[in-house]
Amino acid sequence: MDNHQNTSPIGVFDSGVGGISVLAELVKNLPREKYIYLADSANAPYGTKDCEYVREISLNAAGILYDRGVKALVVACNSATSVAINNIREQFDIPVIGMEPALKPAVEMGGNGAIVVMATPLTLKEEKFNNLFHKFNLEASIISLPCEGLMELIESEAGMTDIVRYLKGLFQNLPVNQLSTVVLGCTHYCFIRNEISTVAGPAVKIIDGNTGTVRQLERTLNSLNLLAPPGKSKPSGQVEFLTTGDRERIIPMCERFLQKSL
Ligand code: DGL
Repeated sequence: MDNHQNTSPIGVFDSGVGGISVLAELVKNLPREKYIYLADSANAPYGTKDCEYVREISLNAAGILYDRGVKALVVACNSATSVAINNIREQFDIPVIGMEPALKPAVEMGGNGAIVVMATPLTLKEEKFNNLFHKFNLEASIISLPCEGLMELIESEAGMTDIVRYLKGLFQNLPVNQLSTVVLGCTHYCFIRNEISTVAGPAVKIIDGNTGTVRQLERTLNSLNLLAPPGKSKPSGQVEFLTTGDRERIIPMCERFLQKSL
């Protein structure tokens, strides 16, 4: 099988709909590409499971996309990236782009207050994030905020009131008047930016790592001459959805979240 065609699709996966926030950025910025999105919902959530298990299911998810002939893979999940990015790169001979909480851009933006990193318990306890934390904790005050249960709440398509209630509980011990930035360290949380802003306050900046990931993919494809050729392909942003979970429920949900984000 040839995985190296520039007209081949790009594979994107997450434990559920979170990676759709990355996919939406990809479609907007690289509209000539074709995409295959895999929601590994049978194994969700990733962020509260142990690292060996998440490594195994992430490799499996990457394998499903690789077998479909994708030319590159975006691990649109901070939790999977934390534990499996090196293994995925070792196992598959295509470019693999991961995610990481956008702490560096948050520190570079400056601001007079603490930076809160919202992410899954797995992301925050892994070495990758800890290295990032220690790299910047002399320059900024950084608060790690594990958000167990939040991805499930987002996928239940709970209303604003329920999500705000959950977030108020989460933020209750934080110095809300002394925060400068919230970093969205889980791709699911991009869908509740407004609710986070309601709880953190309008002056607090909210940033995610999606733009960085899209730029990195574009640079990588460009350097390998793997970008979809402009002459041949019309802008399409064509997306095929796959799931390991209940197709009837998950695929329409993925389509809804993508429409909301475009
Ligand atoms: N969207 C995933 C992330 O970016 C995590 C959600 C989960 O716990 O499965 O970390």
